[in-house]
Amino acid sequence: MTQRHAPATERNRAPILEVLQHHLPKDGAILEISSGTGQHASFFAPFFAPRQWLPSDIDEDNLASIEAWRNASTANNLLAPVRVDASAPDWWQQPWSVNQAINAVVNINMIHIAPWVCCEGLLLGSEQLLSAGGVLYLYGPFKQGGQHTAASNEAFDTHLKNQNPLWGVRNLESVIELAAQHGLEHRATIEMPANNLSVIFIRR
Ligand SMILES: C[S@@+](CC[C@H](N)C(=O)[O-])C[C@H]1O[C@@H](n2cnc3c(N)ncnc32)[C@H](O)[C@@H]1O
Repeated sequence: MTQRHAPATERNRAPILEVLQHHLPKDGAILEISSGTGQHASFFAPFFAPRQWLPSDIDEDNLASIEAWRNASTANNLLAPVRVDASAPDWWQQPWSVNQAINAVVNINMIHIAPWVCCEGLLLGSEQLLSAGGVLYLYGPFKQGGQHTAASNEAFDTHLKNQNPLWGVRNLESVIELAAQHGLEHRATIEMPANNLSVIFIRR
């Protein structure tokens, strides 16, 4: 398997990096859920060394692409990808290959391209994995107050629902409310290019 390419990752990676550098804890491993092609992981990891960056995905072809990007990287803190299905019961109970505490969970562009149960599983797993002060980072398009914030997001939402009625742009307040039930306190919402948001949660 060769390295897959998702052009959006090259557009959004610099603004995301800036937010991650500001908000992620200064030590401990970073678990990325739904790493996709692996481009983000290979770009971000060197900036966080010696913290370990652990990429993951549900999809075998993506896991192979992540591994291909890792093989092309010189970052020795970028770990081999692991298979994680965020909707699976107890997904967080794995023999993680990290030798540092997992202090951050990073999830970019998944919760709208997956059934809501994946968001629920992501929040539950983050609750289980993180200790007090740990950070969950979400990135993607969101509705706010039940309304789309841009016509392009509304069109994207329709496109997603046409592919799968269980997919769709999530309401920010619904995610924040559910996160609070999982001990994850909303710390910040940051506007990002192209009508996306970065959303930061801190484990209580
Ligand atoms: C739009 S892609 C985003 C990938 C990458 N984070 C990026 O920004 O390029 C959505 C990703 O979510 C993954 N995914 C879908 N359902 C999942 C699940 N239940 N658990 C973990 N990952 C999942 C897909 O395999 C895919 O890599």
